[in-house]
Formats: sequence, C-alpha cells, structure tokens
Amino acid sequence: MAFAAHKRKKIAVIGAGFVGSTTAHWAAQKELGDVFLVDINEGTAIGKSMDLMQSSPIEKFDSRVKGTSNYADIAGADVVILTAGMPRKPGMSRDELVGINAKIVKDCCAGIKQHAPDSIVIVVCNPMDVMAVYAKQQLGFPRERVIGMGGSLDSARFRAFIAEELNVSIKDVTGVVLGNHGDAMMPVVRTAAVSSVPIMDLMPIDRINAIVARTKQAGAEIGGHLKTGSAYYAPSRGAIEMAEAILKDQKRIIPCAVELNGEFGVNDKLMVGVLCQLGGAGMEKIIDFKMNADEKAEFDKSVEAVRTLVSALKTVQ
Ligand code: 2OP
Repeated sequence: MAFAAHKRKKIAVIGAGFVGSTTAHWAAQKELGDVFLVDINEGTAIGKSMDLMQSSPIEKFDSRVKGTSNYADIAGADVVILTAGMPRKPGMSRDELVGINAKIVKDCCAGIKQHAPDSIVIVVCNPMDVMAVYAKQQLGFPRERVIGMGGSLDSARFRAFIAEELNVSIKDVTGVVLGNHGDAMMPVVRTAAVSSVPIMDLMPIDRINAIVARTKQAGAEIGGHLKTGSAYYAPSRGAIEMAEAILKDQKRIIPCAVELNGEFGVNDKLMVGVLCQLGGAGMEKIIDFKMNADEKAEFDKSVEAVRTLVSALKTVQ
C-alpha cells in the first residue's frame, strides 16, 4: 500500500550559534516542520543538529533536523530565520554591530535569494531594524516577506516583568512593545493589562516606569551577566512565535519590524516595529493602532533611531 506523498513545512535557520540552535530546538520540539540549520562552520551545524535529533526519541518529535553549510539544502524553505551575526559583547550597543553584521547578512541573503526565493524571511540579527532593512534590500523580496523580530521579544520581556511585579499568572498579562529594537523602543503602557484591567490601575506610576526602563535595557542586563554573549532563549522563542503564526496561518497580531509605506507617517522605506497580522502570506496586514500624542512622539523617536542607523549602514557599505 502506497502512502500519499506528504509535504512537511520546511524551516531554514541561518546561523548555528546560541540563537540559531535554540531556534532550531523550539521549531523541532513544536513540530513546526523539518529544520535545516545552516552555518559556515559546517561542523557546528551538523554536530548540533545530530544532538538535537538524538533527543527526538525522548521528546517524541517527528521533525527532522539537518545541519549544513550548503545553501542548496534550504531549497523550498517556507520560512527562513536569519540569526547569523556577531552577538553583542558586554557594554556594546546593538548599534555598534552594524558594519560587522552587514557583511554577514549580505552573504546569507545571497544564499537565501538563490535557493529559497519564495520564502518568508524573519530577521533576528542585530542591530535588528537596520539589518532587516539591509536584508530586504539584498533580497529584493516584497515587504510581506521580510520581517524583523524585535517586538515579539521585547513584548515578552515587558509582560514577564508585569507578571513578576504583580505576582499574577503570565497567562493573564497582555502588552506590546512597538518602535525599534533598541534603547528608544516603546513599551505601550496605556494598553498593557491583566485580564483586561489596565496596569495603570494596578500599580503606581514609579513601578510602571521601572518596568518600562527595565524592558528597554533587558538585553543589556542579560549580556552584562553573561559577559561573553547575549540573550538567546527569549530571542529565539520570539522568532518561533512569528514562524509558527506564518507556518500555521494563524493570523496572529504580533509586533514586528516591517517596512512602512506611509503608515504612521513613515515613507522612506524604514522598518519599524508595529502591530502586524502574521499568516501564511507573511505580514498580511499592519494594524493601524491609534496612538495618542505622547505615544506618537515616542514612536517618532524610535523611527528617528532607525533612520540614523540606516544612514550609518550607507557609510559601511
Ligand atoms: C536582546 O535584546 C541582544 O538584542 C538582543 O537580547
């Protein structure tokens, strides 16, 4: 008896460092599809993939994981998660990585463009917003298919700190962070809530301000402790939240960096974090979130931060 051909989803993760390998781990564990872990250091990609595969009998996932340095292996990928790049060192801002990571992103994009031209690309490497702009330029894909991961992570951190402060279940906390993935990011306090009760009714303003400040510095806080690297559990899970929404056509509303074509008054091809609907076609819709005057002023600062970095990118090329 012949079984009908079954096509699993295919996920390519570029970069087998901490973020990339942890991304592969979540993807396999959640059985989102078969995973190809790509790294110029082939041994690292193969070794980590083998190790992950050997956990499958215990965890009982049927996803296959394959390590490779050959971009031909990503042919037909539905989603490509671009994590390759140098992580932040302690004391280093995300912005200082522009020159180093642009070169890496350029090489990766050449491989993606050649072998997975129909894929939806999620950009994770830092400084994320500007690397996403650069990746989009290199790939030449439409804005629906090049999406930056920042808001998913920053919003998770914001919610984690709210739950911790109020000693409530994380399951009941909602809240988003918009703007750039940098010091000018914008945790939206007005709409953050616990089971629909605004956090402004649940804690004093100084505690809210402390949470906002900690959210903005959360990546640096972790890097300061790690000393030789930067965060990877929550960043990789943020990328997988987006990948899952796309692969399962969930139509989820997640803050992501996408190219704005006039939305929120931004016209110059900048990618900034806004609320997006993610589904099978990638970024399917930008939610026209009505900001008040203070929020818009804050958002504009975020946009300006991305604009400045994109100019820095021009000088390194
Ligand atoms: C983070 O926020 C380093 O951008 C990375 O953890």
